[in-house]
Amino acid sequence: MLIAGNWKMNKTASEAAEFCSTLKHRLSGIGGDVDVAVFPPFTSLAAAVRTLAETEIAVGAQNVHWEAEGAFTGEISAAMLRELGVYATLVGHSERRQYCGETDETLARRAATALESGLFVIACVGELEWEREAGETEAVLRRQVSVLSEDDRLVIAYEPVWAIGTGKTATPDQAREAHEVIKSLLDVPVLYGGSVTPGNADDLLGQPGVDGALVGGASLDLESFAGICETASRIP
Ligand code: PGA
Repeated sequence: MLIAGNWKMNKTASEAAEFCSTLKHRLSGIGGDVDVAVFPPFTSLAAAVRTLAETEIAVGAQNVHWEAEGAFTGEISAAMLRELGVYATLVGHSERRQYCGETDETLARRAATALESGLFVIACVGELEWEREAGETEAVLRRQVSVLSEDDRLVIAYEPVWAIGTGKTATPDQAREAHEVIKSLLDVPVLYGGSVTPGNADDLLGQPGVDGALVGGASLDLESFAGICETASRIP
């Protein structure tokens, strides 16, 4: 099981250091088969890496560029992340698709470069509400996953867009069905994301084919995030 906390545009460097310092003590005795990772904003990565050094908690970025270097104002390369001690990156989060012009093609380019550079990658996929209502969920997932190739360091996060930050979650059956579709296309771990909380983590993480969670809002609160990690550690 992997529990990944996507902080989005939250927590300054000093806030990240304080949170990570408490998190590492809180999770120090966690048993079971659970990996934990946090994904702070770029400016808080160094503080998180430093604070979590010599722990099992990994640090990832929320995005990465596909070129190695050059005239790409405002972008960050995989080598820059690697040198900081960053271990993974998200790509293609729905907020980047919605607000920053991310497409399946740019997601694929980011994922390929990041994997080549040795980063682990969590590639985000998921249908919009109208796509689900129109019965297009499977077709959307097939299209989004088709640009990716199997890799030992690739993880997919299934995040139905209508469930992100809305308090609505996919039912355990909806999550299981979507994960089945994704796993029929690529043999990689698949996380569920979208309003995961300590209250629903047990049901969602208990579904066959659900290999962990990508947690947004609830990952900003120490007790909520630690609670989800503890729930995951109890799932066989
Ligand atoms: P949420 O976000 O848990 O706040 O719904 C999940 C995500 O965007 O990864």
